[in-house]
Amino acid sequence: MLAKKNRSMEKRIIPITHKDFERCADLWNMKKQRALAERFYSDLQSGKRVTWVCEQNGARLGEISLVLDMNDPEYTITHKRAYVSHLIVKKDCRRQGIGRSLVEHVIEQAKQMDIKELTIGVDLDNFAALRLYAKAGFDRILDVCEDKDGRYVKLMKSL
Ligand SMILES: CC(C)(COP(=O)(O)OP(=O)(O)OC[C@H]1O[C@@H](n2cnc3c(N)ncnc32)[C@H](O)[C@@H]1OP(=O)(O)O)[C@@H](O)C(=O)NCCC(=O)NCCS
Repeated sequence: MLAKKNRSMEKRIIPITHKDFERCADLWNMKKQRALAERFYSDLQSGKRVTWVCEQNGARLGEISLVLDMNDPEYTITHKRAYVSHLIVKKDCRRQGIGRSLVEHVIEQAKQMDIKELTIGVDLDNFAALRLYAKAGFDRILDVCEDKDGRYVKLMKSL
C-alpha cells in the first residue's frame, strides 16, 4: 500500500496530445494568450508540436514542447533542427529541478527523433531561463533580435 502511494507521488514526464490540451490552462493563461493557444492546439493536432508535461499525483507542475516547423530557418530545419518551446514551471514549484528535468527530457527525445540541433528563443532579461539553457549546453548564439516584447537571443545546442 505504501509502495503504491509512493509511486503515485513520484514526478513523471509524459507526452500529451491535443485531446489533453485544455489542461495546459493549469499552467498558463490561455484566454490571455489566445493566439498562442490556437496555434498550440493546431500544431499539436498536426504533429508539428510535441508536448510533455511533468505530473505529480495528477497535478501538472511543468510543460515543455518541441516544435518541428517554425517557418524560420534559424529556428527549424526539416529533419535536422527543432525548436524548444514554451517551457514553464508552476510558480510554487520552481527551483526544484523541474525545469532542468524537462529540458533534459526534451534533449533525449530529440536525439531519439534523430534531430541534430535544438534552438530556443530567450528574452535577454530572463536570467533564470538563460542560466538554465546555458547549463544544458545551449552554447551557440545564432542571433540577437527584438520584437514587441523586447530583446531576445536565439540560442542553439548541437546534439
Ligand atoms: C525558467 C523556469 C522554467 C525554470 O524552471 P525551474 O524548475 O525553476 O528550474 P530548475 O529548478 O530546474 O533550475 C535549473 C537551473 O536554472 C537556473 N535557474 C532557475 N531559476 C533561476 C532563478 N530564479 N534565478 C537564477 N537561476 C535560475 C539555475 O541555474 C538552476 O540550477 P541550480 O538550481 O543548480 O542553480 C521557470 O522559472 C519558469 O517557468 N519561468 C517562467 C516561464 C519562462 O520564463 N520560461 C522560459 C521561456 S524561454
